[in-house]
Amino acid sequence: MTERFTITTPIYYPNDRLHIGHAYTTVAADAIARFHRLRGEDVFFVTGTDEHGQKIEDRAGKVGKTPIAYVDEIVSDIRELWQTLGISNDDFIRTTEPRHERVVQEVFRRLEAKGDLYLSQYEGWYCTPCESFWVEGKLVDGNCPTCGGPVARLNEESYFFRLSRYAEPLLQHIESNPEFIQPVSRRNEMIQFIRQGLEDLSVSRTSFRWGIPLPQDPRHIAYVWVDALTNYITACGYLQDPERFSRYWPADVHLVGKEIVRFHAVIWPALLLSLDLPLPKVVYGHGWLLLGEQKMSKSKGNVIDPRQLVRRYGRDAVRYYLLREVPFGADGNYTEDALILRTNVDLANDLGNLLSRTTAMIERFTGGVIPSPASSSLRGQAEETVRRVEERLARLQVSDAVAAVFELVKRANKFIEEEAPWQLHRSGDPRLADVLYDLAESLRITAVLLKPFLLEAPNAIYRQLGLGDAEGARLADAAWGGLASGTKVERGEPIFPRIETEREAEETPAAPASAAPAKAKAEATAPTPVDAGTITIDEFQRLDLRVGTILEASRVKGADRLLELKVDLGEGEPRTVVSGIAEYYEPQALAGTQIVLVANLQPAKIRGVVSHGMILAGKTADTLQIVSPRQPLPAGTKIK
Ligand code: MSP
Repeated sequence: MTERFTITTPIYYPNDRLHIGHAYTTVAADAIARFHRLRGEDVFFVTGTDEHGQKIEDRAGKVGKTPIAYVDEIVSDIRELWQTLGISNDDFIRTTEPRHERVVQEVFRRLEAKGDLYLSQYEGWYCTPCESFWVEGKLVDGNCPTCGGPVARLNEESYFFRLSRYAEPLLQHIESNPEFIQPVSRRNEMIQFIRQGLEDLSVSRTSFRWGIPLPQDPRHIAYVWVDALTNYITACGYLQDPERFSRYWPADVHLVGKEIVRFHAVIWPALLLSLDLPLPKVVYGHGWLLLGEQKMSKSKGNVIDPRQLVRRYGRDAVRYYLLREVPFGADGNYTEDALILRTNVDLANDLGNLLSRTTAMIERFTGGVIPSPASSSLRGQAEETVRRVEERLARLQVSDAVAAVFELVKRANKFIEEEAPWQLHRSGDPRLADVLYDLAESLRITAVLLKPFLLEAPNAIYRQLGLGDAEGARLADAAWGGLASGTKVERGEPIFPRIETEREAEETPAAPASAAPAKAKAEATAPTPVDAGTITIDEFQRLDLRVGTILEASRVKGADRLLELKVDLGEGEPRTVVSGIAEYYEPQALAGTQIVLVANLQPAKIRGVVSHGMILAGKTADTLQIVSPRQPLPAGTKIK
């Protein structure tokens, strides 16, 4: 039987436009859902909107709209945003839908039948932005401990849910299911929280109307968190479609931000226990995207609009950044510079170049046809990469899973330098077929493994390898050897043109073709007449110029003009380079200096030291200046 996999995001409040903090959760859930589909599982991925409550009612009132008219507009904007980001949710649930209102009312009936609901008086504090009740002792300087905002005093009649009854069973469940709350730091917080004792929870309000009336007492409106959490079972078919419900419930993963773990790991399971329903398998509380050390949030007004980023950089770049930049679970700072750097280094340089170099070499050396190999050097690492991605995603280590794929890309790029296929070609070495096949097959496997994360790149890689699109590819296709010899490559445009910032564009008006914006690029890559005084763009591209950082420098014994440099090129092992700059630079002053290295120069032995590359410098009659990037760049950055 096909395995099934259910994953949810929080349902978002449609009180304002969503920002990249919300996109962060949704894109991560999307990647996990896509990964399970790639494995051939029957996936149910649901997101939606949490539309009731005082916050929405207040907000709509302020702009003179009815609550439903107000949320309708924002909800359609949210749906559009998820389309823009390529979110593959199977359902979109709105808490204002009749299917959900019926379920919430039935839940209240069942809680009462179980003896878990009673009428009393709530006296305490309420934070409307967080829709949370707080007892006096939990407030921080009189404010909400979650958002830091002001709280209001409430004194109203309310139904209570006997949460206190479930403290023990919950603790037992958490202790015997170590994977239930993740990461482990949040699990420990929750254990501590429950050990302090749970008070019964107020689950209805009477001071506003925008919500679901309790069937037993319609003056009372269901507490918005009970309403919201119930969405997960409504979406799976609870009380509507028993077969579907038993298939998709319990959820495998509730993915949420860390500030709402408490609702998902305490209140929600207690409600489910009361309803005699199975508990979700994992509640994962990820960290926050921060802007200048503060949580990005609508109430603070420090938000970044994901739509604008997609327009500027494309959705693959935005998805890649969100998935890769911050170790999943931790907080991380958002900066646009980091997004640009990630795109330029990982996507444009590493992945984009690997594809264009590989297809270019196959065109030039084997007539555009994937050759038939005799043996493989990259197979081991490719197979290991598939295992790593599976293992890391199973543990929801999204960023680490993406990183594993890019390790393979880096390895393949390095393999080109090591094997220098152009030399194998020149000398008629039959190993050329092995090397080119290794590269193309690693790229194909990379494309399959990237399918959960990126939407356009896997298809583009497949197309350029002559394989059509990658839509039908499954994880099983990541097995080594799937690429048929004889396939004809179809070399195309660079899949990730480097992002040039405006500042860079001003400083380098004559930027090389592959770095130029799209329009100029089309002109620049048009065939150029070959003449003795010029080189073709392909010839230029054979030069592998890279930024390196000098780690240490020392004099070469018996040679006045030579220094031996150890240069970090981001390859792990530093490179040894011998350079004739000893008359102009003191060795100890060079550590940390960035240089540009011709990285694919044939190694040469100079005064007994093997030099792997040559650094660039300008020389006049009386000075010599090393060429350095104006601003530091990551070691290994390609110069184009
Ligand atoms: N409606 C409730 C959730 C109910 S679930 C049954 C809610 N909605 S929300 O619109 O405020 O969205 C909160 C969620 O958005 C967070 O839990 C997190 O998943 C995501 N994020 C919002 N801001 C974020 C960051 N700055 N960083 C990371 N995620 C963030 O709470």
